[in-house]
Amino acid sequence: SSSEAVSSEIHGVDLVSKLPTREGWPGPPLVLYKNYWLRPLYVATIMGLQNSGFKPRHDDIILATNPKCGTTWTKALIFAINNRFRYEFGSHPLLFRHPQELVPSIETPRDGNISYIEKLPSPRVLGTHMPPSLFPKSMVSDGFRVVYMCREPKDVFVSLWHFQKEIFKDNTTSLEAVFSMFSEGFSTFGPFWDHCLEYWRESIASPEKVLFLKYEDMISEPVKYVIRLAMFLGVPFSTKEEEDGIPEEVVRLCSFEKLSNLDANQTGEFTLSGNRVLKKSAFFRKGKVGDWVNHMSEEMGRKLDCIVEEKLKGSGLVF
Ligand code: A3P
Repeated sequence: SSSEAVSSEIHGVDLVSKLPTREGWPGPPLVLYKNYWLRPLYVATIMGLQNSGFKPRHDDIILATNPKCGTTWTKALIFAINNRFRYEFGSHPLLFRHPQELVPSIETPRDGNISYIEKLPSPRVLGTHMPPSLFPKSMVSDGFRVVYMCREPKDVFVSLWHFQKEIFKDNTTSLEAVFSMFSEGFSTFGPFWDHCLEYWRESIASPEKVLFLKYEDMISEPVKYVIRLAMFLGVPFSTKEEEDGIPEEVVRLCSFEKLSNLDANQTGEFTLSGNRVLKKSAFFRKGKVGDWVNHMSEEMGRKLDCIVEEKLKGSGLVF
């Protein structure tokens, strides 16, 4: 079917190999596709999506993130909020399954096949790392809502560096070597700030359709933001639920301490394309705000702060 046409080849021409590339991060070189630097495989998938006719539904929730901004956590939170009438907290699917399995992502559907996502019952929650400018044309907004989770760039960089080393089993690339790349915008789904800004602007233009969240805010006041998230998702907590401490239950169930210690998240591996495997535990490293100070010099920190400040100037978005 057309929905399975996840291919970057058109009439036998490999389109990905024609794009500019940039080496330096562990793994294959990044490829420039419509102003964003992506892994070749993502380019292929996203190009394939363009031709697949993939259509969001009016009641879809799209969870959008730049990698390492708290995707796994937000997937868990949204799943717990949406399904709180279906499951007891003591025997919850989140206790037995990895959040990345419970909430699929558009670009990495199970079995690499978009038809899996098309068969899911409504209302769907779908992850994506795509900025709006990379959405397939068929994805023009049809009422679906977007939750965007953002994070302080220095912590994103440090988290990304650890994660890329883990994915590509690379112990030779130094943090310093990729720091300047990140600072110049060369990172997966980078430039990081362009990604943030696209969603930031959409959230200002249509706050009822795009909820812009920050990892640091969520960490410091999780209950407040879980209540806000539920409201945005269209399943607000009742007064009775708030009195009964249900938002707190959601926060506890999805906390780093709770999730990272579960067997489902500690053991086992995901199979990635190209026969690569990734430990399920790789999505849980530290879960802290400000861990960058343990890996970067103050000077590097100041340098990235300056760049980001300059890039975001006038937008109203600050970290
Ligand atoms: P660190 O590497 O800084 O620890 P993503 O899910 O987008 O890949 O982001 C991963 C980051 O979110 C990692 O950051 C990870 O530890 C952190 N994380 C995972 N689960 C979390 C949770 N339940 N609460 C807070 N942070 C979490």
